[in-house]
Amino acid sequence: MRSRKQGTGPGTIGNRQWPGVIERYRAYLPVSPATPIITLLEGNTPLIHSRALSRRLGRGMSVYLKYEGMNPTGSFKDRGMTVAISKAVEAKSVAVLCASTGNTSASASAYAARAGLRSIVLIPSGAVALGKLSQALIHGARVVVVDANFDACLALVKSLAQGHPVTLVNSINPHRIEGQKTCAFEICDALGRAPDYHVTPVGNAGNITAQWKGYTEYRRRGRITQRPAMLGFQAEGAAPLVQGRVIKHPRTIATAIRIGNPASWQGALAAAEESGGAIQAVSDRQILEAYRLLASEDGVFVEPASAASVAGLLRLAQAGYFKKRATIVCILTGHGLKDPERAIKSIRLARPLPPSLSAITKAAGLK
Ligand code: F0G
Repeated sequence: MRSRKQGTGPGTIGNRQWPGVIERYRAYLPVSPATPIITLLEGNTPLIHSRALSRRLGRGMSVYLKYEGMNPTGSFKDRGMTVAISKAVEAKSVAVLCASTGNTSASASAYAARAGLRSIVLIPSGAVALGKLSQALIHGARVVVVDANFDACLALVKSLAQGHPVTLVNSINPHRIEGQKTCAFEICDALGRAPDYHVTPVGNAGNITAQWKGYTEYRRRGRITQRPAMLGFQAEGAAPLVQGRVIKHPRTIATAIRIGNPASWQGALAAAEESGGAIQAVSDRQILEAYRLLASEDGVFVEPASAASVAGLLRLAQAGYFKKRATIVCILTGHGLKDPERAIKSIRLARPLPPSLSAITKAAGLK
Protein backbone atom coordinates (compact mmCIF):
# COMPACT_ATOMS: atom_id res chain seq x y z
CA MET A 1 0.00 0.00 0.00
CA ARG A 2 1.15 3.52 -0.74
CA SER A 3 1.80 5.95 2.04
CA ARG A 4 -1.23 7.98 3.05
CA LYS A 5 0.98 11.05 2.97
CA GLN A 6 0.90 11.11 -0.82
CA GLY A 7 -2.29 13.15 -0.88
CA THR A 8 -5.60 12.34 0.70
CA GLY A 9 -7.62 15.43 -0.20
CA PRO A 10 -10.44 15.69 -2.71
CA GLY A 11 -9.45 14.70 -6.24
CA THR A 12 -7.06 12.03 -5.05
CA ILE A 13 -6.79 8.88 -7.11
CA GLY A 14 -5.30 5.86 -5.40
CA ASN A 15 -3.80 8.26 -2.88
CA ARG A 16 -2.17 10.26 -5.63
CA GLN A 17 -3.55 13.54 -6.89
CA TRP A 18 -4.58 13.65 -10.56
CA PRO A 19 -3.14 16.97 -11.75
CA GLY A 20 -5.53 17.76 -14.64
CA VAL A 21 -4.82 17.27 -18.33
CA ILE A 22 -2.27 20.05 -18.80
CA GLU A 23 0.09 18.83 -16.07
CA ARG A 24 -0.43 15.19 -17.04
CA TYR A 25 0.28 15.75 -20.74
CA ARG A 26 2.36 18.93 -20.59
CA ALA A 27 4.93 17.64 -23.10
CA TYR A 28 2.20 17.39 -25.74
CA LEU A 29 0.53 20.76 -25.15
CA PRO A 30 1.30 24.36 -26.15
CA VAL A 31 2.14 25.59 -22.65
CA SER A 32 5.36 26.93 -21.15
CA PRO A 33 6.49 27.63 -17.58
CA ALA A 34 5.06 31.14 -18.15
CA THR A 35 1.53 29.83 -18.78
CA PRO A 36 -0.74 30.21 -15.73
CA ILE A 37 -2.59 26.89 -15.49
CA ILE A 38 -6.34 27.22 -15.00
CA THR A 39 -7.69 23.78 -14.14
CA LEU A 40 -10.59 22.05 -12.43
CA LEU A 41 -8.66 18.75 -12.54
CA GLU A 42 -10.47 17.69 -15.71
CA GLY A 43 -9.69 14.41 -17.50
CA ASN A 44 -8.88 10.99 -16.06
CA THR A 45 -12.44 9.96 -16.93
CA PRO A 46 -13.50 6.31 -16.50
CA LEU A 47 -13.03 3.83 -19.33
CA ILE A 48 -15.80 1.40 -18.48
CA HIS A 49 -16.04 -2.07 -19.98
CA SER A 50 -19.60 -2.56 -21.25
CA ARG A 51 -20.72 -6.10 -20.58
CA ALA A 52 -24.11 -5.39 -22.11
CA LEU A 53 -22.75 -4.08 -25.42
CA SER A 54 -19.91 -6.59 -25.67
CA ARG A 55 -22.43 -9.40 -25.22
CA ARG A 56 -24.85 -7.86 -27.68
CA LEU A 57 -22.16 -7.59 -30.36
CA GLY A 58 -20.82 -11.11 -29.67
CA ARG A 59 -17.92 -12.48 -31.77
CA GLY A 60 -15.44 -11.83 -28.98
CA MET A 61 -15.82 -8.04 -29.05
CA SER A 62 -14.73 -5.82 -26.16
CA VAL A 63 -16.68 -2.58 -25.99
CA TYR A 64 -15.54 0.21 -23.68
CA LEU A 65 -17.30 3.44 -22.76
CA LYS A 66 -15.16 6.54 -22.27
CA TYR A 67 -17.43 8.44 -19.89
CA GLU A 68 -16.59 12.07 -20.61
CA GLY A 69 -19.65 13.17 -18.67
CA MET A 70 -17.46 12.68 -15.59
CA ASN A 71 -15.46 15.82 -16.35
CA PRO A 72 -15.92 18.75 -13.90
CA THR A 73 -18.66 20.52 -15.88
CA GLY A 74 -20.11 17.25 -17.21
CA SER A 75 -18.68 17.13 -20.73
CA PHE A 76 -15.49 16.61 -22.75
CA LYS A 77 -15.29 20.36 -23.38
CA ASP A 78 -13.31 20.81 -20.15
CA ARG A 79 -10.24 19.17 -21.73
CA GLY A 80 -10.09 21.88 -24.36
CA MET A 81 -11.24 24.67 -22.09
CA THR A 82 -8.42 24.26 -19.54
CA VAL A 83 -5.95 24.93 -22.37
CA ALA A 84 -7.97 27.69 -24.08
CA ILE A 85 -8.58 29.60 -20.84
CA SER A 86 -5.01 29.16 -19.59
CA LYS A 87 -3.73 30.57 -22.90
CA ALA A 88 -6.28 33.40 -22.76
CA VAL A 89 -4.96 34.39 -19.31
CA GLU A 90 -1.39 34.13 -20.56
CA ALA A 91 -2.33 36.49 -23.43
CA LYS A 92 -3.79 38.93 -20.86
CA SER A 93 -7.29 38.58 -22.26
CA VAL A 94 -10.05 39.89 -20.00
CA ALA A 95 -13.06 38.23 -21.60
CA VAL A 96 -13.90 35.05 -23.49
CA LEU A 97 -16.67 34.51 -25.98
CA CYS A 98 -18.38 31.50 -27.53
CA ALA A 99 -21.44 30.27 -29.37
CA SER A 100 -22.83 27.05 -27.99
CA THR A 101 -25.44 24.32 -28.02
CA GLY A 102 -24.83 24.31 -24.26
CA ASN A 103 -21.77 22.36 -23.17
CA THR A 104 -19.15 24.74 -24.49
CA SER A 105 -20.90 27.62 -22.71
CA ALA A 106 -21.08 25.64 -19.45
CA SER A 107 -17.38 24.83 -19.61
CA ALA A 108 -16.23 28.27 -20.79
CA SER A 109 -18.18 30.05 -18.06
CA ALA A 110 -16.85 27.75 -15.31
CA TYR A 111 -13.19 28.04 -16.35
CA ALA A 112 -13.59 31.79 -16.94
CA ALA A 113 -15.04 32.16 -13.43
CA ARG A 114 -12.05 30.32 -12.01
CA ALA A 115 -9.65 32.53 -13.96
CA GLY A 116 -11.42 35.76 -13.07
CA LEU A 117 -12.31 36.46 -16.71
CA ARG A 118 -15.64 37.68 -18.03
CA SER A 119 -17.52 35.25 -20.24
CA ILE A 120 -20.07 35.95 -22.93
CA VAL A 121 -22.06 33.13 -24.51
CA LEU A 122 -24.46 33.15 -27.45
CA ILE A 123 -26.98 30.33 -27.45
CA PRO A 124 -29.78 29.40 -29.85
CA SER A 125 -33.22 30.15 -28.43
CA GLY A 126 -35.13 27.13 -27.13
CA ALA A 127 -32.44 24.68 -28.19
CA VAL A 128 -30.20 24.32 -25.13
CA ALA A 129 -30.87 21.72 -22.42
CA LEU A 130 -31.77 23.20 -19.05
CA GLY A 131 -28.81 21.84 -17.09
CA LYS A 132 -26.35 23.52 -19.45
CA LEU A 133 -28.15 26.85 -19.36
CA SER A 134 -28.23 26.76 -15.57
CA GLN A 135 -24.47 26.21 -15.51
CA ALA A 136 -23.69 29.25 -17.69
CA LEU A 137 -26.03 31.40 -15.60
CA ILE A 138 -24.72 30.37 -12.19
CA HIS A 139 -21.08 30.75 -13.26
CA GLY A 140 -21.88 34.36 -14.11
CA ALA A 141 -21.68 34.35 -17.89
CA ARG A 142 -23.39 37.07 -19.88
CA VAL A 143 -25.90 34.78 -21.61
CA VAL A 144 -27.25 36.16 -24.88
CA VAL A 145 -30.13 34.13 -26.27
CA VAL A 146 -30.37 34.48 -30.05
CA ASP A 147 -33.43 33.80 -32.14
CA ALA A 148 -31.45 31.67 -34.59
CA ASN A 149 -29.67 28.31 -34.69
CA PHE A 150 -26.13 27.41 -33.54
CA ASP A 151 -24.57 28.00 -36.96
CA ALA A 152 -25.85 31.60 -36.98
CA CYS A 153 -24.58 32.10 -33.41
CA LEU A 154 -21.13 30.85 -34.44
CA ALA A 155 -21.02 33.27 -37.38
CA LEU A 156 -21.98 36.11 -35.00
CA VAL A 157 -19.27 35.35 -32.43
CA LYS A 158 -16.64 35.15 -35.18
CA SER A 159 -17.58 38.71 -36.23
CA LEU A 160 -17.73 39.93 -32.62
CA ALA A 161 -14.27 38.51 -31.88
CA GLN A 162 -12.80 40.45 -34.79
CA GLY A 163 -14.05 43.78 -33.59
CA HIS A 164 -13.54 43.43 -29.81
CA PRO A 165 -10.76 42.51 -27.36
CA VAL A 166 -12.16 39.10 -26.48
CA THR A 167 -10.82 35.57 -26.94
CA LEU A 168 -13.02 33.21 -28.93
CA VAL A 169 -13.11 29.80 -27.21
CA ASN A 170 -15.09 27.77 -29.72
CA SER A 171 -13.15 24.85 -31.20
CA ILE A 172 -11.90 27.05 -34.05
CA ASN A 173 -9.51 28.21 -31.31
CA PRO A 174 -6.64 25.71 -31.84
CA HIS A 175 -5.99 25.48 -28.08
CA ARG A 176 -9.35 23.74 -27.68
CA ILE A 177 -8.31 21.02 -30.15
CA GLU A 178 -4.97 20.64 -28.37
CA GLY A 179 -6.64 19.99 -25.02
CA GLN A 180 -9.29 17.67 -26.41
CA LYS A 181 -6.73 15.35 -27.98
CA THR A 182 -5.85 14.17 -24.44
CA CYS A 183 -8.94 11.94 -24.54
CA ALA A 184 -7.12 9.72 -27.06
CA PHE A 185 -4.00 9.71 -24.86
CA GLU A 186 -5.99 8.50 -21.84
CA ILE A 187 -7.63 5.72 -23.84
CA CYS A 188 -4.24 4.45 -25.06
CA ASP A 189 -2.71 4.76 -21.57
CA ALA A 190 -5.59 2.73 -20.09
CA LEU A 191 -5.63 0.00 -22.75
CA GLY A 192 -1.87 -0.13 -23.28
CA ARG A 193 -2.58 0.35 -27.01
CA ALA A 194 -5.04 2.14 -29.27
CA PRO A 195 -8.45 0.52 -29.77
CA ASP A 196 -9.30 -0.98 -33.15
CA TYR A 197 -12.29 1.33 -33.51
CA HIS A 198 -13.02 4.72 -31.96
CA VAL A 199 -16.69 5.72 -32.13
CA THR A 200 -17.79 9.28 -31.40
CA PRO A 201 -20.69 11.70 -31.89
CA VAL A 202 -20.06 14.56 -34.32
CA GLY A 203 -21.53 18.07 -34.22
CA ASN A 204 -19.20 20.98 -34.91
CA ALA A 205 -16.57 18.28 -35.59
CA GLY A 206 -13.82 19.66 -33.34
CA ASN A 207 -13.74 16.61 -31.12
CA ILE A 208 -13.20 13.93 -33.75
CA THR A 209 -10.52 16.18 -35.26
CA ALA A 210 -8.83 16.49 -31.86
CA GLN A 211 -9.05 12.78 -31.04
CA TRP A 212 -7.48 11.81 -34.36
CA LYS A 213 -4.69 14.32 -33.73
CA GLY A 214 -4.14 12.67 -30.33
CA TYR A 215 -3.75 9.18 -31.77
CA THR A 216 -1.50 10.50 -34.50
CA GLU A 217 0.80 12.27 -32.05
CA TYR A 218 0.94 9.25 -29.75
CA ARG A 219 2.01 7.12 -32.69
CA ARG A 220 4.60 9.66 -33.80
CA ARG A 221 6.10 9.61 -30.32
CA GLY A 222 6.16 5.83 -30.26
CA ARG A 223 3.50 5.41 -27.56
CA ILE A 224 1.30 3.29 -29.85
CA THR A 225 1.95 1.45 -33.09
CA GLN A 226 -1.51 1.37 -34.67
CA ARG A 227 -4.21 4.03 -34.81
CA PRO A 228 -7.92 3.16 -34.67
CA ALA A 229 -10.50 3.52 -37.42
CA MET A 230 -12.41 6.70 -36.56
CA LEU A 231 -16.19 6.35 -36.76
CA GLY A 232 -18.17 9.57 -36.37
CA PHE A 233 -21.95 9.76 -36.04
CA GLN A 234 -24.22 12.69 -36.77
CA ALA A 235 -27.97 12.81 -36.23
CA GLU A 236 -29.91 12.11 -39.43
CA GLY A 237 -31.60 15.53 -39.49
CA ALA A 238 -28.30 17.29 -38.85
CA ALA A 239 -25.84 15.36 -40.99
CA PRO A 240 -24.03 17.84 -43.26
CA LEU A 241 -20.87 15.72 -43.41
CA VAL A 242 -22.83 12.68 -44.56
CA GLN A 243 -24.88 14.60 -47.10
CA GLY A 244 -21.92 16.66 -48.29
CA ARG A 245 -23.77 19.97 -47.98
CA VAL A 246 -24.63 22.61 -45.39
CA ILE A 247 -27.97 21.87 -43.69
CA LYS A 248 -29.81 25.18 -43.29
CA HIS A 249 -32.33 23.98 -40.72
CA PRO A 250 -30.78 21.07 -38.80
CA ARG A 251 -33.21 19.04 -36.70
CA THR A 252 -32.68 16.41 -34.03
CA ILE A 253 -33.69 15.78 -30.43
CA ALA A 254 -29.94 15.64 -29.66
CA THR A 255 -29.66 19.42 -29.29
CA ALA A 256 -25.91 19.29 -28.56
CA ILE A 257 -25.23 18.17 -32.13
CA ARG A 258 -27.96 20.15 -33.89
CA ILE A 259 -25.43 21.73 -36.25
CA GLY A 260 -25.70 22.23 -40.01
CA ASN A 261 -22.33 23.75 -40.91
CA PRO A 262 -19.54 22.29 -38.74
CA ALA A 263 -16.45 24.46 -38.26
CA SER A 264 -14.03 21.50 -38.42
CA TRP A 265 -15.64 19.99 -41.53
CA GLN A 266 -12.30 19.14 -43.18
CA GLY A 267 -10.78 17.81 -39.97
CA ALA A 268 -13.59 15.31 -39.51
CA LEU A 269 -13.46 14.10 -43.11
CA ALA A 270 -9.68 13.75 -42.90
CA ALA A 271 -9.92 11.73 -39.67
CA ALA A 272 -12.41 9.33 -41.23
CA GLU A 273 -10.51 9.00 -44.47
CA GLU A 274 -6.95 8.69 -43.15
CA SER A 275 -8.01 6.16 -40.51
CA GLY A 276 -10.09 3.99 -42.82
CA GLY A 277 -13.22 4.92 -40.84
CA ALA A 278 -16.40 6.75 -41.78
CA ILE A 279 -18.85 9.50 -40.87
CA GLN A 280 -22.42 8.24 -40.88
CA ALA A 281 -25.85 9.21 -39.58
CA VAL A 282 -28.19 7.67 -37.00
CA SER A 283 -31.87 8.46 -36.52
CA ASP A 284 -33.31 10.10 -33.42
CA ARG A 285 -35.06 6.82 -32.69
CA GLN A 286 -31.78 4.94 -32.73
CA ILE A 287 -30.21 7.63 -30.53
CA LEU A 288 -33.00 7.34 -27.95
CA GLU A 289 -32.83 3.54 -27.98
CA ALA A 290 -29.10 3.67 -27.28
CA TYR A 291 -29.70 6.35 -24.62
CA ARG A 292 -32.12 4.08 -22.74
CA LEU A 293 -29.99 0.99 -23.24
CA LEU A 294 -26.89 2.64 -21.74
CA ALA A 295 -28.86 3.78 -18.72
CA SER A 296 -30.87 0.61 -18.14
CA GLU A 297 -28.29 -2.07 -18.98
CA ASP A 298 -24.95 -0.47 -18.17
CA GLY A 299 -25.99 2.04 -15.50
CA VAL A 300 -24.44 4.89 -17.47
CA PHE A 301 -26.53 8.05 -17.85
CA VAL A 302 -25.60 10.23 -20.81
CA GLU A 303 -27.22 13.04 -22.71
CA PRO A 304 -28.89 12.10 -26.03
CA ALA A 305 -26.08 13.44 -28.27
CA SER A 306 -23.62 11.15 -26.49
CA ALA A 307 -25.75 8.12 -27.28
CA ALA A 308 -25.17 8.76 -31.00
CA SER A 309 -21.88 6.87 -30.68
CA VAL A 310 -23.56 3.78 -29.26
CA ALA A 311 -26.44 4.05 -31.75
CA GLY A 312 -23.81 4.06 -34.49
CA LEU A 313 -22.00 1.11 -32.92
CA LEU A 314 -25.19 -0.95 -32.92
CA ARG A 315 -26.02 0.01 -36.49
CA LEU A 316 -22.61 -0.99 -37.82
CA ALA A 317 -22.57 -4.18 -35.76
CA GLN A 318 -25.87 -5.21 -37.27
CA ALA A 319 -24.40 -4.66 -40.72
CA GLY A 320 -21.45 -6.94 -39.81
CA TYR A 321 -18.97 -4.09 -40.08
CA PHE A 322 -16.56 -4.96 -37.26
CA LYS A 323 -13.80 -7.54 -37.46
CA LYS A 324 -13.88 -10.33 -34.86
CA ARG A 325 -12.46 -9.86 -31.35
CA ALA A 326 -12.11 -6.11 -31.87
CA THR A 327 -11.55 -3.57 -29.11
CA ILE A 328 -14.02 -0.72 -29.56
CA VAL A 329 -14.21 2.52 -27.57
CA CYS A 330 -17.39 4.61 -27.65
CA ILE A 331 -17.04 8.20 -26.47
CA LEU A 332 -19.87 9.32 -24.20
CA THR A 333 -19.45 13.06 -24.49
CA GLY A 334 -21.83 14.50 -21.88
CA HIS A 335 -23.62 13.60 -18.66
CA GLY A 336 -27.30 12.64 -18.62
CA LEU A 337 -28.07 15.15 -15.88
CA LYS A 338 -27.46 17.92 -18.42
CA ASP A 339 -30.89 17.16 -19.85
CA PRO A 340 -33.17 15.64 -17.20
CA GLU A 341 -36.27 16.67 -19.15
CA ARG A 342 -35.38 14.21 -21.89
CA ALA A 343 -35.12 11.32 -19.43
CA ILE A 344 -38.46 12.17 -17.90
CA LYS A 345 -40.08 12.47 -21.33
CA SER A 346 -38.69 9.06 -22.32
CA ILE A 347 -40.16 7.15 -19.39
CA ARG A 348 -43.74 7.62 -18.28
CA LEU A 349 -44.05 8.52 -14.59
CA ALA A 350 -47.20 7.14 -12.94
CA ARG A 351 -49.66 9.35 -11.05
CA PRO A 352 -49.15 9.81 -7.29
CA LEU A 353 -50.97 7.24 -5.15
CA PRO A 354 -52.56 7.54 -1.72
CA PRO A 355 -50.19 6.29 1.01
CA SER A 356 -51.96 2.95 1.35
CA LEU A 357 -49.75 -0.09 1.83
CA SER A 358 -51.78 -2.30 -0.49
CA ALA A 359 -51.85 0.24 -3.33
CA ILE A 360 -48.12 0.91 -2.95
CA THR A 361 -47.27 -2.81 -2.80
CA LYS A 362 -49.15 -3.35 -6.04
CA ALA A 363 -47.58 -0.30 -7.74
CA ALA A 364 -44.11 -1.40 -6.65
CA GLY A 365 -44.66 -4.68 -8.48
CA LEU A 366 -44.37 -6.68 -5.26
CA LYS A 367 -46.77 -9.42 -4.25
N1 F0G B 1 -21.59 15.63 -27.66
C1 F0G B 1 -21.91 16.65 -26.87
C2 F0G B 1 -22.54 16.35 -25.57
C3 F0G B 1 -21.66 17.99 -27.29
O1 F0G B 1 -21.99 18.99 -26.49
C4 F0G B 1 -21.07 18.21 -28.54
C5 F0G B 1 -20.82 19.57 -29.03
C6 F0G B 1 -20.74 17.10 -29.32
C7 F0G B 1 -21.01 15.82 -28.86
C8 F0G B 1 -20.09 17.23 -30.63
O2 F0G B 1 -18.76 17.60 -30.53
O3 F0G B 1 -18.90 19.70 -31.82
O4 F0G B 1 -16.70 18.67 -31.29
O5 F0G B 1 -18.24 17.59 -32.93
N2 F0G B 1 -21.21 20.61 -28.44
C9 F0G B 1 -20.86 21.99 -28.83
C10 F0G B 1 -21.34 22.98 -27.78
C11 F0G B 1 -21.21 22.34 -30.21
O6 F0G B 1 -21.58 24.15 -28.10
O7 F0G B 1 -21.45 22.61 -26.62
P1 F0G B 1 -18.09 18.44 -31.71
